[in-house]
Amino acid sequence: METYATLANRYDRWNLSIAGQFQQAAVLAEVGDLSGRTVLDVGCGTGFYSRLFAAQGAERVVGVDLSAEMIAVARSFPDEIEYLLGDATLGALDGRFDLVAALWLVNHAETRADLDAMIKGFATAGHELLLVTTNADADWDFLGTHAKQYGVQQHPNGPAVDGRLPYVATIFHNDDSFSFQSGSWSLEALTNSLHAAGYRTIKRISPAADAPSPLAAKPPFMILRASID
Ligand SMILES: C[S@@+](CC[C@H](N)C(=O)[O-])C[C@H]1O[C@@H](n2cnc3c(N)ncnc32)[C@H](O)[C@@H]1O
Repeated sequence: METYATLANRYDRWNLSIAGQFQQAAVLAEVGDLSGRTVLDVGCGTGFYSRLFAAQGAERVVGVDLSAEMIAVARSFPDEIEYLLGDATLGALDGRFDLVAALWLVNHAETRADLDAMIKGFATAGHELLLVTTNADADWDFLGTHAKQYGVQQHPNGPAVDGRLPYVATIFHNDDSFSFQSGSWSLEALTNSLHAAGYRTIKRISPAADAPSPLAAKPPFMILRASID
């Protein structure tokens, strides 16, 4: 099992995998043109999505991440994106952004208290939220076996506690692979936490069904949009 400190240079193999590209298409279709808008990318990692948001026209993009190694990879790209080292569970995130994006971050909240703290932090940073995280209705049989051809596997590795099922994610790239610990929050836990933070509208986005079958029917991820207004 690896940590982001050791896999920072390889993490984007996920984003470049077939499943990662399917996710990317679904996210970009959802956010659309970001011209003139400001975006906070929480848990930005290597900045893969921060750069995509900038390419969608965002006027200002700020990325925040807990891992110095992931931030170092993000900062190695020549662009105007501002990257900050920070812990999303430690209270308010500064600024009023048009869009707060958190891709594959809440799955790293290990307790309901951490999940609530993260989501409250998102709400302080802006009224519009885009969340990408583990599919709450994951088909674990498919994701644990057949999804390897799309570059990813997800295996539960413990009992669900308080709405969170721990699992190991493995990313495959040519003959190489890496694994890290993650967790799948129930839709109920996420919804409760979003409501507690003041989000009123919560929408689950279904990815377009034009991905290599059966990935579209059983994606490893889900996208949630939440709005305070
Ligand atoms: C699975 S990666 C996703 C990276 C990026 N969002 C993407 O989709 O390419 C999760 C990232 O969340 C970061 N992270 C985990 N816990 C965090 C926290 N409490 N505050 C900020 N970042 C955190 C990790 O360091 C890692 O870079």
